[in-house]
Amino acid sequence: MIQKYVYGTPFETEAVTVQMEAVCGAPAYGDISLENGFCFTCLLDAEDVVYGLGEANRGINKRGYRYISDCTDDPEHMEDKSSLYAAHNFIVISGTQTFGLFFDYPSRMTFDVGYTRMNTLTVTCENADLYLYVIEGKTPYEIVKQLRRIIGRSYIPPKFAFGFGQSRWGYRTKEDYREVAKGYRRNHIPVDMIYMDIDYMQDYKDFTLNEENFSDFPAFVQEMKEQNIRLIPIIDAGVKVEKGYDVYEEGVKNRYFCQREDGSDFVAAVWPGDTHFPDVLNPEARAWFGDKYKILTDQGIEGFWNDMNEPAIFYTPEGVQRAEEIVKEFFQDTQGKVSFFEAKDAVLGLSNNKEDYASFYHQANGRQIRHDKVHNLFGYNMTRAAGEAFERINPEKRFLMFSRSSYIGMHRYGGIWTGDNKSWWSHILLNLKMMPSLNMCGFLYTGADLGGFGADTTRDLLLRWLALGVFTPLMRNHSAMGTRDQECFRFEGVEDFRHIIGIRYRLLPYLYSEYMKAALSDDLYFRPLAFVYPEDPHAVQVEDQLMLGDEMMIAPVYSQNAAGRYVYLPEEMKFVKFLPDGSLHEEILPAGHHYVKIALNEVPLFIRKGKCIPLADFAECVAALDTEHLTMIGYPSSAYIMYDDDGVCKDYDNPSNRRILEFV
Ligand code: GLC
Repeated sequence: MIQKYVYGTPFETEAVTVQMEAVCGAPAYGDISLENGFCFTCLLDAEDVVYGLGEANRGINKRGYRYISDCTDDPEHMEDKSSLYAAHNFIVISGTQTFGLFFDYPSRMTFDVGYTRMNTLTVTCENADLYLYVIEGKTPYEIVKQLRRIIGRSYIPPKFAFGFGQSRWGYRTKEDYREVAKGYRRNHIPVDMIYMDIDYMQDYKDFTLNEENFSDFPAFVQEMKEQNIRLIPIIDAGVKVEKGYDVYEEGVKNRYFCQREDGSDFVAAVWPGDTHFPDVLNPEARAWFGDKYKILTDQGIEGFWNDMNEPAIFYTPEGVQRAEEIVKEFFQDTQGKVSFFEAKDAVLGLSNNKEDYASFYHQANGRQIRHDKVHNLFGYNMTRAAGEAFERINPEKRFLMFSRSSYIGMHRYGGIWTGDNKSWWSHILLNLKMMPSLNMCGFLYTGADLGGFGADTTRDLLLRWLALGVFTPLMRNHSAMGTRDQECFRFEGVEDFRHIIGIRYRLLPYLYSEYMKAALSDDLYFRPLAFVYPEDPHAVQVEDQLMLGDEMMIAPVYSQNAAGRYVYLPEEMKFVKFLPDGSLHEEILPAGHHYVKIALNEVPLFIRKGKCIPLADFAECVAALDTEHLTMIGYPSSAYIMYDDDGVCKDYDNPSNRRILEFV
């Protein structure tokens, strides 16, 4: 059961798609105070578990820390970070009392999950203008499914997007892209996508192509497609301020950009230097910005990634002025009123500054609203702009789309990648733990920068991370400019990379089928073990293994120099290891704790008792996959219902998409 409560005058975020009447009175759980903004509190018993919060730091069980929904461009994902790029305000308390809470509030919101007091959950925000959805159910899993039912169907990408993608910030010319394509194809390492980072643009102007490097772009897109490789360009939130640039000129003329209080267009510096932000909360401006994607789809592009849409601000002219005064004073007299640290903070504090976010406005739902009041909706609505435009461009066709910043609701229009992680072992684990929480909030098409974005990767780190990426719907290797080369073919022993990525393709019939089933029935693709084995007291403790679909459990290795790892099996399972010679190691393991050996060039998985999964032959791209001749692995005398379709159209309900595969 779901009950909706209304406080004050909420902003209509359209996160929830089902019309519901708000009820009067106080929710059956916790206490609410409206004295000083909004505050929800409830006591937690020692054993209670708190799930949710989607893209947030730390564990699957969120207890013991404070998380702040405040979409932020911060590439330092250390343990002490409380805000990442997204705002996913859904939590489930599981224990003595089991209930879910979705706070539909578009600005900064704090979830103190036993941080100030270990036995207290406190959720606060500045303005008491929000919808609160209280969800009751027997289990956390049931509660999650109920939320998913009211927020609408998760985004479904085209099938090619389940292939492997290579990305790097720094590719500039056609030759750079050709070299990457060649590196993969020559070494027979599967690949389906190469991502185009900001350098494909002319001076970082959205919807343009560098004139010198990308003449006759459609022919180049075609050249890559002939090798079964799609080019996936990035689109940034800020539109460069430049006379004569049509997107800028149109936006200014039609007043489609966010404005300052005095009605002038707000200026924020990002990659292109000064930019204006399209007012994606204004439906007219949103449609205008969305239609711009057609410039690239007309040239053969079938997918995009939306970036810098928190929106990230490097600095503003006003901010520079403020900082300048402080720094000047320090330079004039280093022993004077302004300390070194104040001067330093004034410069460092130029980026993503609160004052800047409070100095521009949107025209949303017929009223003017200050950006900081709806800050967490920008990435959502930028991606919605694209999603809505794709429906106009070609309603029959699926486009690839994922975003950096998001809010619940955006899951209907695209997936997300988890932003600028690092080549750190701890970030493999963070990636793993975040996946089920993202799924709970509707984000199914998700993944991290495999190998790590910042810092220099190592061969073993990349191999281990890829062995997790085999299972994440978005499987992309991406790295930052200035870091060590990270394309798989740049390392010694390319056969290991071919083997590991090849396993992704061999498993694709199953992974795609489970993705589609999850999306079509508002279910999870990744589940914490406790959702599948609620009666097992050990299962709830397991944060480094996940259930994938109904048949599989994964347990990747995430420590350097480890020859394997410990796993916990809540029931008997078949341990399957894909060996480098193409054969399988299969072994039935009883319930309980085990140490399993997993070499750097092996991928482990576990098949649940009495279940089976299909396996395809190795293929170098999704188009070459033979889904007709599949081998079944797992427990004999079982069957699997496989979902498959053409991967392009939206004919999801066609009964011929499902077939029964028997493992005799
Ligand atoms: C941001 C993105 C990253 C991208 C870079 C340059 O840091 O998160 O993925 O490579 O910008 O566009």
